[in-house]
Amino acid sequence: MDICPTKIQARATVARLKQDGASLGLVPTMGYLHDGHLTLIRAAKAACDKVAVSIFVNPTQFGPNEDLATYPRDTDRDLALLKAEGVDMVFLPDPAEMYTEDAQTIVETTDLSGILIGALRPGHFRGVATVVTKLFNILQPDRAFFGRKDYQQLQVIRTMVRDLDIPVEIVGVPTVREDDGLAMSSRNVRLTPEHRAAAPALNAALDWAEQDLPLNPHTAEELAADITARISDADGADIQSVDIRDAETLALLTGPITAPAVILLAVRFGAVLLIDQRVVAP
Ligand code: PAJ
Repeated sequence: MDICPTKIQARATVARLKQDGASLGLVPTMGYLHDGHLTLIRAAKAACDKVAVSIFVNPTQFGPNEDLATYPRDTDRDLALLKAEGVDMVFLPDPAEMYTEDAQTIVETTDLSGILIGALRPGHFRGVATVVTKLFNILQPDRAFFGRKDYQQLQVIRTMVRDLDIPVEIVGVPTVREDDGLAMSSRNVRLTPEHRAAAPALNAALDWAEQDLPLNPHTAEELAADITARISDADGADIQSVDIRDAETLALLTGPITAPAVILLAVRFGAVLLIDQRVVAP
């Protein structure tokens, strides 16, 4: 497994891996890998000849009062996991390698980046879209793999690739969960034991909605209110948003749900913001 801390090393390794026409899959991550990340890597390995993983805690997608400094990191453990998965190369730059001090170019999906998580975290999706564009340009993958857990992020990246004619196929991978239903996240380790015990309420409310909706038609407003009530019962849940949106455009839905919708949850437990989602059919 090649470990590349610089763009020059990464480009040379990519050129070598892609010789003879091999296809390259990319899994971008911020490290502190869990089974969710490893599932993306296995999907990439199944679909591509060679697999590259990037580990970069991207400062431009964190707000000034967010958890950049305390974001969990364990590079040695991550590299051992990636080696065991048979990953071909790891791009592991530091912030100075990724961004020159006078960097001034950004990529932004103007409508999608201001709503939902983007309203809670101003500038977040601009940072994501910019760094993913840079990773695509440095590593030139044929396909890139993203989790559906970060549903809005996936839609931002799909939209950016479409709008800018970026020649990378985007693959969305289903959410991987703990046994009790909590969506795996690098941030879960920072939940207190009480909050960790309460956090499966998000998945439980989504399960309920998925099962109930086909039986009992709801308006979007009723569905949001029912889900909110269910999650409010969980100890320490500070609900930031419960949104029922068009599954494709993320436009807000009102009235009867007649087409596939996505339920998007953002709930704080103490300092930790958890998100989850489910696509539901009427
Ligand atoms: P990170 O949070 O490390 O996540 C990396 C990838 O793993 C994302 O595509 C995310 O959706 C996926 N993922 C995380 N938890 C998952 C789960 N439980 N099931 C399935 N997939 C899961 O998302 C980022 O990093 C960054 O924003 C990044 C795209 C790397 C840009 O900096």
